[in-house]
Amino acid sequence: MNKSSDKHLYEQVADRIQELIKQKTLQIGDRLPSVRKLREQLSVSVSTVTEAYRLLEDRGLITVRPQSGYYVKAKIVSQEPNPSAPPQQASIIDTSIVSRVYANIEQPEIIKLGAAISSPELLPIATLNRIMGQVIRTYSEISHSYHSPRGCAVLRHEVAKRLMDAGCAIAPERIIITNGTTEAVHLALQAVTKPGDTVAIESPCYYGLLQILEALHLKALELPTDPREGISLEHLEAALKSSHISACAVVSNFSNPLGSCMSDRRKQDLVELVTKYNIPLIEDDIYGDLSFAGNRPKAIKAFDTEGMVLHCCSVSKTISPGLRVGWLVAEKNFVQVKKLKMVTNMMTSIVPQLTVAHFFANGGYERHLRKLRRIYQSQMEKTRLAICKYFPPQTRVTRPQGGQVLWLELPQNFDVMQFYESALEYRISIAPGIIFSPSQSYRNCMRINCGLLWSEESERALQILGALAQQQLANKILVT
Ligand SMILES: Cc1ncc(COP(=O)(O)O)c(C=O)c1O
Repeated sequence: MNKSSDKHLYEQVADRIQELIKQKTLQIGDRLPSVRKLREQLSVSVSTVTEAYRLLEDRGLITVRPQSGYYVKAKIVSQEPNPSAPPQQASIIDTSIVSRVYANIEQPEIIKLGAAISSPELLPIATLNRIMGQVIRTYSEISHSYHSPRGCAVLRHEVAKRLMDAGCAIAPERIIITNGTTEAVHLALQAVTKPGDTVAIESPCYYGLLQILEALHLKALELPTDPREGISLEHLEAALKSSHISACAVVSNFSNPLGSCMSDRRKQDLVELVTKYNIPLIEDDIYGDLSFAGNRPKAIKAFDTEGMVLHCCSVSKTISPGLRVGWLVAEKNFVQVKKLKMVTNMMTSIVPQLTVAHFFANGGYERHLRKLRRIYQSQMEKTRLAICKYFPPQTRVTRPQGGQVLWLELPQNFDVMQFYESALEYRISIAPGIIFSPSQSYRNCMRINCGLLWSEESERALQILGALAQQQLANKILVT
């Protein structure tokens, strides 16, 4: 075992056993060594082995038989969705369906599998509140005055340091603090487009981006997207050659809703492509810090030598969506973006900015991330397993290596809006596939949130959803 590894000892033990299962040294039905025996063999503690076995259970690889021991389990396999094939013309956007869908999930007691949110218990709320109290006491007057629209220097400096982890060498002077990623993307698009322009996007894509495009009177060209590798560069190049594309917008790492993460090679190719055609690229990297592998993947911005990429990010998925602290790295468009920020809302509130700056500097951000990544990975595995167990066998599910959402594809005749209404009767929300596409494709798909603390209630909710899906498909067969 490697004591200096980023991973906990029990994770290393679990990984080693998983490898033995993969290599078929341990086969389905084989009994694993007892906790005591493995403890002796590996010179680790009983609790390390117990935790490792628990993790392997979570991963669906082993099962415990009472009074007998741990056994290798037949793994439930599910297929992943195929790359998407959206319509090939630019769409005018109407997101009224998004507001209708989300009006319902505000209701109390709804099990929110439809929103990409976390349980408050998973966020460092107590630490943030303590820091916020100190900030207000220390900067009692500064907290209430106007400041530069760029944001405060101490936070821009901390963000620049964090960007180094994503492979980017960015001067704090190129960073503008925003009210979350939403505002960063909004300002970036506003700076590089004019009403009526067309923006190339992934399909399916985060509906919040569609709402921004709609607000700015922009059109969207949906491009085929692979659930693992992201947007198709071949289709993007064809679109750049043949149509008037003013910008391209993608979620680079563990996207929402597909969970795709572009490889470094493709990130580099994408930057070369947009540079060749002189098209600005808006990168939303909100999930980049949530990689299950531990190491953060690079941002697309890391490959940008010509200032073509406007990089957008925030702390909303890692420490607090409510603080509304995000940032935008803009090079060529910096002056314009700064002006737009000023006329939009003058600046981002100073107390949240200083709170995040202090948390980054000495609040244990890395430690918090390690915990969050582990919990999200486990929750996502449990959710996938439950889907494989309860949903119709034809269901395809993504297998993201980070982030917090799963994308499900059911047979073509599945009606996700009917399913959404039935699920609401059981007080469960899901995000129907059609809200992720301006052409309202994906009527047989849905997104499921894995950010809520796993409980018996989560399992029961997925069991109900699975039964509803089975029922709908069975009725359709009877009717046709
Ligand atoms: C891809 C993506 N971008 C942006 C946002 C919104 O970010 P923020 O709350 O920082 O504005 C979300 C929230 O779900 C998201 O999934």
